[in-house]
Amino acid sequence: MVFGVISIVLILVSVVECGTPSSELNDFDYPAINCRKHSAVLTDFGGVGDGKTSNTKAFNSAITNLSQYSKDGGAQLIVPPGKWLTGSFNLTSHFTLFLQKDAVILGSQDESEWPQLPVLPSYGRGRDAPDGRFSSLIFGTNLTDVVITGNNGTIDGQGSYWWSKFKNDQLKLTRPYMIELMYSNQIQISNLTLVNSPSWFVHPIYSSDIIINGLTILAPVGSPNTDGIDPDSCTNVRIEDNYIVSGDDCIAIKSGWDQYGIKFGKPSQQIVIRRLTCISPDSATVALGSEMSGGIQDVRIEDITAITTE
Ligand SMILES: *[C@@H]1O[C@H](CO)[C@@H](O)[C@H](O)[C@H]1NC(C)=O
Ligand SMILES: *[C@@H]1O[C@H](CO)[C@@H](O)[C@H](O)[C@H]1NC(C)=O
Ligand SMILES: *[C@@H]1O[C@H](CO)[C@@H](O)[C@H](O)[C@H]1NC(C)=O
Ligand SMILES: *[C@@H]1O[C@H](CO)[C@@H](O)[C@H](O)[C@H]1NC(C)=O
Ligand SMILES: *[C@@H]1O[C@H](CO)[C@@H](O)[C@H](O)[C@H]1NC(C)=O
Repeated sequence: MVFGVISIVLILVSVVECGTPSSELNDFDYPAINCRKHSAVLTDFGGVGDGKTSNTKAFNSAITNLSQYSKDGGAQLIVPPGKWLTGSFNLTSHFTLFLQKDAVILGSQDESEWPQLPVLPSYGRGRDAPDGRFSSLIFGTNLTDVVITGNNGTIDGQGSYWWSKFKNDQLKLTRPYMIELMYSNQIQISNLTLVNSPSWFVHPIYSSDIIINGLTILAPVGSPNTDGIDPDSCTNVRIEDNYIVSGDDCIAIKSGWDQYGIKFGKPSQQIVIRRLTCISPDSATVALGSEMSGGIQDVRIEDITAITTE
């Protein structure tokens, strides 16, 4: 009997050990949160949480500094309670961005704080304007093992600035997303409140092995293109236990646009969506497309609560 009890404890413990996640759809987990060898706080890099001072430099220098540990056990950047105004910043590999409870990241409304990126190859043009696009608030490309999580801390995109520019046809570039990861794998985005994104909230693209769970996503139901979660040309995606109120589709599975999407040829596949609550009066609970020219296959959707949706 004692042996039995010990075995059970060992099994439970093994769940929280660090390790390389397997990529089987129903059997992958990213227990990296407590397993980074190095840790730093945003204030170590000059961060000021007064809601007015720009922290773009603080985030960038913190993450640049912590990127040196990607081959040495990884690193975690802690965002403490406070209001941390920032423009776009880039993540690194083997890295956790951790928002403590009552930490609020505020998206800057100063366009010079948002670098310009070329259009997505599977889209060929921007959605809001033909030329380039603004980098997302939290951006990463060609990364592996990235976690964005917290004790329900908040990321507020302060989207009203961008929505009014969009409605008045004043955009020269496509609006930024809140979180975008490109060409990356082993991604976890969890236990956060995301509000008022300039456009889509969570956009993994050309990526695989992704868990998105425990998000509360909130935008006014009249806000333009504020999709909740849009896996785009992604493989192995598990989206569970999310609550979304938005001005567009709560979840939209995508894979590029017209001839560009066909040419790029990367489908979205092996996607599970469970225990989603969605409120979106003018859009879908889960949309397949639009923009699905690279194909979509193998999608399971279950235990959905759709309240006032199309
Ligand atoms: C950045 O990393 C170096 C180690 O390479 C360390 O000495 C330095 O103090 C770090 N910078 C800050 C602001 O913590
Ligand atoms: C983030 O990465 C993109 C793509 O590599 C780059 O264009 C952009 O300048 C980077 N942003 C910062 C703040 O370094
Ligand atoms: C990122 O990965 C893509 C696809 O493998 C590749 O085409 C691109 O050159 C890579 N970019 C960087 C900055 O390494
Ligand atoms: C997270 O915060 C949101 C907004 O305050 C709240 O609605 C939600 O219930 C919280 N989630 C958890 C798990 O505490
Ligand atoms: C998210 O929060 C839940 C409830 O507090 C907790 O059980 C779970 O371990 C957290 N998950 C992650 C990935 O942080």
